Amino acid sequence: MKEQLLQIRNQAMDSLDACQTVKELEDLRVKVLGKKGELTGILKQMGKLSAEERPVIGQLANEVRQELEGKIEECRAVLKERQLAAQLEAEQLDVTMPGRPFELGSMHPLSLVLEEIEEIFLGMGFDIAEGPEVEYDYYNFEALNLPKDHPARDTQDTFYITDNILLRTQTSPVQVRVMEKQKPPIRVISPGRVYRSDAVDATHSPVFHQIEGLIVDKGVTMANLKGTLEIFAKRLYGEDAKTRFRPHHFPFTEPSAEMDTQCFACGGKGCRLCKGEGWIELLGCGMVHPKVLKNCGIDPEVYSGFAFGMGLERVVMRRFGIDDLRLFFENDLRFLKQF
Ligand code: FA5
Ligand code: MG
Repeated sequence: MKEQLLQIRNQAMDSLDACQTVKELEDLRVKVLGKKGELTGILKQMGKLSAEERPVIGQLANEVRQELEGKIEECRAVLKERQLAAQLEAEQLDVTMPGRPFELGSMHPLSLVLEEIEEIFLGMGFDIAEGPEVEYDYYNFEALNLPKDHPARDTQDTFYITDNILLRTQTSPVQVRVMEKQKPPIRVISPGRVYRSDAVDATHSPVFHQIEGLIVDKGVTMANLKGTLEIFAKRLYGEDAKTRFRPHHFPFTEPSAEMDTQCFACGGKGCRLCKGEGWIELLGCGMVHPKVLKNCGIDPEVYSGFAFGMGLERVVMRRFGIDDLRLFFENDLRFLKQF
């Protein structure tokens, strides 16, 4: 038994020297000194010994245990120190290094140009009005002289929520909301998001932005409409910007027109972007229909007005020479960083 004890001791001493980590050391301690360990196993057999042998072996066993425990603590201290040193080495921190610069964001081109447009119209004495994107059929269509069975409803493919509630297809409902609340003189623009079930291409998106404009006062004419929009185009695009008015039809204006700008990509020759026409439709406009004024409680015998609605994406495309409107919605930083 004495030999067994000495053998356990010598083996353990050798293994201890070979330990590389605190974990290995702990495993070894359990294996030798633990409740089911080798040394404990020997002590359990002490009962078989004679009365003389017992104290001798008992003392030896205690010495071995003390010796091993001492050595284990020593090893543990060394290993811990080594571990800490390795960790410090790996986690070197240089407090004199310059900080990492954080990137400053930039305005989205749509927001940037919207602000410019707002500035231009505020400078001409307009106020800014807002309306809901989830709108009643009444404001989006009916009050604008588009009753339920009106064929012109088909030109604006509508996302309906219920029979009477929809995602607004245009910012024109804000005209009605403003005229219901405010009496002339009225001079407002109303920017916002609109929705149409349109197929996506270089100039169409199912979600886009419009800016509505409305003036109602005594003696407002088509000349005021043309003058205002031409000044607007020149302020935004520069003095040599070319625009043209084409007769058109909207149920809520009479007469109605569309204003185009010359295609910036081909200079009017015709290309993929303008679909060969040389011009890009920018906005719809016209003199507010007498029925619409009446629907809003304004006397068309006394007052007249003009209104327009432009597509913000198209305006911004022209402003920066962007040839595909999908770029506005893809959030590609390489594109957005250019503004
Ligand atoms: C209207 O929405 C009328 N409410 C405009 C109006 C207002 C006329 C006031 C008279 C008085 P229209 O459906 O043509 O008209 O759309 C107006 C503009 O929105 C277009 O000129 C175009 O620039 C833009 N637009 C239309 N559909 C899309 C689309 N799917 N994606 C991007 N822009 C679009
Ligand atoms: Mg149109």
